[in-house]
Amino acid sequence: MTSSKNPLRAGLTRQQAAEAAILVIFGVTGDLAARKLLPALYHQYIARRMPQDFAIVGFARRPWDDAEFRRQMDEAARPHLGEAVDDASWQSFLDHLYLQPGSFDDQQAYEALTVRVDELADSHATQGNLLYYLATPPDWFVPITTHLQKAGLAQRDHGWQRLIVEKPFGTDLASARALNRHLDAIFPESEIYRIDHYLGKETVQNLLVFRFANAIWEPLWNREHIDHVQITVAEEIGIGDRAPYYENSGALRDMLQNHMMQLLTLVAMEPPAAFAAGPIRDEKTKVLQQIRPIAAAQESARGQYSAGSVAGRMVAGYRDEADVSAGSTRETFAAIKLQIENWRWSGVPFYLRTGKRLPKKATQITIVFRNAPRVTFQAPLTAHLTPNELAIRIQPDEGIALTFASKMPGTGQERIRNVTMDFNYGTSFGVTPPDAYERLLLDALMGDPTLFTRNDEVEAAWTRFDPLLAEWDEADDVPRYSAGSWGPSEADALIERDGRRWRAL
Ligand code: BG6
Repeated sequence: MTSSKNPLRAGLTRQQAAEAAILVIFGVTGDLAARKLLPALYHQYIARRMPQDFAIVGFARRPWDDAEFRRQMDEAARPHLGEAVDDASWQSFLDHLYLQPGSFDDQQAYEALTVRVDELADSHATQGNLLYYLATPPDWFVPITTHLQKAGLAQRDHGWQRLIVEKPFGTDLASARALNRHLDAIFPESEIYRIDHYLGKETVQNLLVFRFANAIWEPLWNREHIDHVQITVAEEIGIGDRAPYYENSGALRDMLQNHMMQLLTLVAMEPPAAFAAGPIRDEKTKVLQQIRPIAAAQESARGQYSAGSVAGRMVAGYRDEADVSAGSTRETFAAIKLQIENWRWSGVPFYLRTGKRLPKKATQITIVFRNAPRVTFQAPLTAHLTPNELAIRIQPDEGIALTFASKMPGTGQERIRNVTMDFNYGTSFGVTPPDAYERLLLDALMGDPTLFTRNDEVEAAWTRFDPLLAEWDEADDVPRYSAGSWGPSEADALIERDGRRWRAL
């Protein structure tokens, strides 16, 4: 098996080609396949990183033959391919697509799928290698994998068989645990790839390089020098047409429990013994297990957007969105304060906030250092001084900025002001980061699970949020915030109670 266990090597100088394989996508007619999966696979194809030969089988209840399926996928995915699509290469990519008609709950359709993948294995020389992608609503995860197992497709006597599971992975600890048990009885854990697309973002992976390939940060990266950490994932968008999902989810489940916890673990983890899937995921899981239970009243805040103006445009409130109930108490904003009980972080709060319909799209991690002793410089010299800050901009305007104090030029009275040293991905590397799915799909094909979440990791994350979720699900009201603002006043109170404030983004 050709696989790279080294994310640095894999990401930066990947040399090996993935082995020929068949990718079976369940939910291929959905939004994710058109917007993300097919464009990502196509981009890897034109970059010559896809396996030498491959087939993509869509499994869907559609009366189409392969030609019609390719036509439909052309129409659905083409608008999402980005600029300058080369018609010839797109057409030759589409030639790898096949449709296996059938419904997810029909065992016979899986028997037919077996025949189809065996035929395609011959024509594409894929050696029995199969990657299943569950891009369906989560209710289908169990039925589909059960049918795969019954059809003998989950573990075969030749090649490898892998499973990619989209989010949401459970809705609470009990459901995530049950899903893990179910999947682990069908596929070996090492072949289960739970996607969290934040881990596919270049800037998120760079957190590992930033922390562990530089000697200067690590000595400062602890309670001795860091006052607190802030993580903000702000979105301008509302819920679009996703009310049926969002009404049962909310900001805590949708963003905080998964994407933001991934950011937190990468900031807080100990150096892994090696850059390999096992040690990295071990260290991330330890962080999650060391988070102190959240005291709901003092350490959390929630909110729901009401009508307001975002980027100069009036938008409806959450309760007026299509398919949202008029009295919905679902949160579209969540903020929490977390404490990690270990030697490195004891006493250093992590403040996390996320919301829809905030003033702009911005994901940022801010490390706020402790104040310098106020000995050498005193008031009024220090009037405008704030502590050193390291701002890690995950998206957009990807970069890292360090703020520090500097003497203002001039011969008169000494004055001190904060200045910023700014690294910007775009200007330094001259490229826009690729979409997260490009990296993740290729890693799964190559058999590298480093950037996917493990069963114990997922459960550890749910464990911390379960009590809060239960409380929020039961609540009969929710604080409101105007669309276009930075969330409810409760979120400000959460951090101001500790004498701190959210950093402006
Ligand atoms: C998804 C959430 O997982 O992530 C969405 O379901 C959210 O609600 C999206 O908008 C944000 O992703 P990104 O990559 O745009 O930050």
